[in-house]
Amino acid sequence: MRGMIAPSMMCADFLELGKSIHAFEVLKMEYLHIDIMDGSFVPNYTLGTDYVRKLKGATKIPLDIHLMVDRPEDKVDWFEFGEGDFVSFHYEATHHVQRTIGCIKSRGALAMLALNPATHLGVLEDVMVDLDAVLIMTVNPGFAGQSLVPQTVDKVRRLRQMYPEITIEVDGNVSFENARILRDAGADIFVAGSSSVFAKTGSLEENTRKLRESIR
Ligand code: DX5
Ligand code: ZN
Repeated sequence: MRGMIAPSMMCADFLELGKSIHAFEVLKMEYLHIDIMDGSFVPNYTLGTDYVRKLKGATKIPLDIHLMVDRPEDKVDWFEFGEGDFVSFHYEATHHVQRTIGCIKSRGALAMLALNPATHLGVLEDVMVDLDAVLIMTVNPGFAGQSLVPQTVDKVRRLRQMYPEITIEVDGNVSFENARILRDAGADIFVAGSSSVFAKTGSLEENTRKLRESIR
């Protein structure tokens, strides 16, 4: 599978959102990654329901909504999404993994289960058949600009060995260098935040070119 990029919209300039969306369309980004935080599952707030609705109306790029919220089964219907969009939620945040997958799929979207760095891959075994993708968090969720948890690279490698066909997304400190390593380990979708596409060292265009080179 070709490596795909999902720029992390929490890292985009909020005052220039229209320009960023246009740039991402020109750069043919595969997804737009939207971090939703609830101040409980993770100690932060970021984007929300209105933001998702606006973005959905403003672009045809599929959304990749990352719910970092407790009890996602109660909240997933607050968000606008549809066919071709990914919605991910955390294994650690719900007693009802399959019920939440059902809510997502009943609206035609693709279901992705996210695992924090400390969560064992074994929890996937009985739910794998229901999933479209797995999100391996390469940092503990909540903030941009953190350092990759080193053991998550081997976790991606083991997941790829266990399930050769599953789509694997990685999120957190996916720098140009880490992206190459994670690509070799078997990742398919790369959430691009302050470590790559939004790095201060280059423009969105230069950074994207460089990241594409890393994940070829
Ligand atoms: C982490 C967020 C990421 C973050 C990744 O909880 O989900 O989207 O923005 O970007 P960097 O490169 O800053 O780690
Ligand atoms: Zn995220």
